[in-house]
Amino acid sequence: MLSKAVSRTLVAVIIAVVVIAVVGGVVAYWYYSQQKPAKLVYVVIGKSVHPYWSVVEAGVKKAGQELGVEAIFWVPSKEDVAAQLSTMDSYIAQKVAGIAIAPSDPGAATPYISKALQQGIPVITIDTDAPQSDRLAYLGTGNYKAGWLAGLVAWQLAKEKGYVKPGATIKVAMLTGSLTAMNSLERMAGFKDAIMNCSQKDPDIKGNINIEWLGPYNDQEDPTQALNLALSVLQAHPDLTIAFGVYAYDGPAWAKALKQAGIPPGKVILVEFDVTSDNVPPLQEGYALATIGQRQYFMGYYGVKLLYNMTKLGIEQALKQFVPGYPSNKIYDTGVDIVSTKHMEFTAPTGEKITVLSLDEYKSLAQQLGIDPSLLGLS
Ligand code: BGC
Repeated sequence: MLSKAVSRTLVAVIIAVVVIAVVGGVVAYWYYSQQKPAKLVYVVIGKSVHPYWSVVEAGVKKAGQELGVEAIFWVPSKEDVAAQLSTMDSYIAQKVAGIAIAPSDPGAATPYISKALQQGIPVITIDTDAPQSDRLAYLGTGNYKAGWLAGLVAWQLAKEKGYVKPGATIKVAMLTGSLTAMNSLERMAGFKDAIMNCSQKDPDIKGNINIEWLGPYNDQEDPTQALNLALSVLQAHPDLTIAFGVYAYDGPAWAKALKQAGIPPGKVILVEFDVTSDNVPPLQEGYALATIGQRQYFMGYYGVKLLYNMTKLGIEQALKQFVPGYPSNKIYDTGVDIVSTKHMEFTAPTGEKITVLSLDEYKSLAQQLGIDPSLLGLS
């Protein structure tokens, strides 16, 4: 009798122990899963709403997915130095794990970059640099060289059209989205230097040409302002020879203005920047004759990866692995390609051999590099 009671009690005790163990386990699991450290957060700050930046965003998101971190992408609607910097400041206050910024005004961004670094948040620049700041690296286009290439192509095309002749006058206008961002200033300087160099070195010209520079006209990355500026330039100078679209907005604005002004496609030598859904139609319609394709997908993708490596390996180690020539070099050049509707090859008066890719060739290149061509407006 007694032993039956004992064994019943024993069974009850065992059941109780098992139940407590199971419930305890579940509670502990729930508790620890709640305590799991929050995802690392990286922030990428761009310059304006444009398909160009959507491609950067795609790179940011892809890197975030691959690394299992939160990768936030933010842009103001148009050039907005104050909004960029107050956004950066609020992410510094949130103690994010790393920041990449394309500063519309490098001077204004410098104290914010220092502030983040002082708080142990790594900062790099993408798309446009702030070399006088303490940013850890710049990841993007070599803009002086890219502008220079645009100038060589413009000269070649103007020559093919018969506009470049001894004693002639040519009018060159530059439309841009910023007069403070370094990428804009460097592109325009490279473009101008290339054309001036060609005019001196071209054996048919030897400096015997009058080049009238118009602008730069600043639309502050606002497409409406860009169109209005382009229209007013064409009204004042219907004999414009070369139009340069310094930013992604600008080529399409020139193209629209040329159409509205009734100027036939190809009469003005329009050279754009970027290959996006906004920049491809002006090429296909014949208004734009070439464009400089940036590889902005990698600015977003490698930007997040580099910041992540800094968190995991330490800043020096990450930079050493990532940036060729670091520490004397803090620049990772993502590269550019010259693109047109057809393949071209020529030797510029400066002696450089230039290859222009057709849209089809560029599309296959994008595929090889792992960039979805539909992101670039190439379907
Ligand atoms: C530039 C960016 C700019 C974008 C849109 C690109 O060519 O690299 O800095 O924000 O155009 O205007």
